[in-house]
Amino acid sequence: AREAVAVAHPNIALIKYWGKRDEHLVLPFNDSLSLTLDVFPTTTKVRLEPDADADRVVMDGAIARGEVLRRTTAFLELVRELAGRRERAVVETRNTVPVGAGLASSASGFAALALAAAHAYGLSLGAAQLSRLARRGSGSAARSVFGGFVVWHAGDPDAPDPDHTSYAEPVTDARLDASLVAVVLDAGPKAVSSREAMRRTVATSPLYRGWVTDSHADLARMRTALRDGDMACVGEIAERNALGMHATMETARPAVRYLTSASTTVLDEVRRLRREGVGAWATMDAGPNVKVLCASADAEQVAARMREVTGVLVVVARSGPGARHETVT
Ligand code: DP6
Repeated sequence: AREAVAVAHPNIALIKYWGKRDEHLVLPFNDSLSLTLDVFPTTTKVRLEPDADADRVVMDGAIARGEVLRRTTAFLELVRELAGRRERAVVETRNTVPVGAGLASSASGFAALALAAAHAYGLSLGAAQLSRLARRGSGSAARSVFGGFVVWHAGDPDAPDPDHTSYAEPVTDARLDASLVAVVLDAGPKAVSSREAMRRTVATSPLYRGWVTDSHADLARMRTALRDGDMACVGEIAERNALGMHATMETARPAVRYLTSASTTVLDEVRRLRREGVGAWATMDAGPNVKVLCASADAEQVAARMREVTGVLVVVARSGPGARHETVT
């Protein structure tokens, strides 16, 4: 096609992905489960440049260098290898999510890039193959290929080709209308990348193995609760899984702490809401922001309370769609 455009949305994990058993292939230790959001999409255009001798990346209007350029080029190399082609490309990407804020811009970014690049280089991939490809860019991107609730299988480490066994797929039997209320406490870049923080956690936290074991049980219970439409059960498992992940980081050496006193204030308020009888549970990623999980019917009430106590930007996100092509204009 020479040129292709794709759009993808971020996702927030309710059972977290934290820690890689294979860094190169981006194979995780545990299965994870997320909700793809309907806010903050990333739009990415890939155009092949037969005469260029290097890839070019333009992110939100600025020429990318350093880590963003390096990761994008490495990803394009992988696509070229799969397609058996050599042309370089220009990648133009537009985020609507505050970068580095723990709102998973790498998930929407690599899901959109995987779809656009595959198309531009003439690869025709099935959904699971596309998810596996997106995974190589950023683990959480494997899940943003799909909409709604999504499970990412860690895969079988003993399989002849473990790469083939680790992909995401939609949870088709979920009967729950849930929203995530994002409390944007800080939209700045994070001090420690999630890549580095994961590495440190796996290598040094005495709690890590236990959290992985718990995550397996959490996932099975959450799938049942999703099928039953049991909001409270889904919420309790999600909050506990997220707090457990942060506990593994706190006990790494050197410790990684993404949560701030402002995050703690929000966590306290979420508990207060529960005491008042409102079903609300917290989840946090590699940053200070807190996302409050609740039934969609309660989302505006929860958001109003969060605005009142924090005074910061609060965004209500509902279930959103998977990655899709956009026609080139
Ligand atoms: C805390 O997918 O950003 O958001 O694979 O190294 O690119 P890399 O990491 P990334 O990590 C996401 C971690 C998390 C939890 C999650 O989304 O499951």
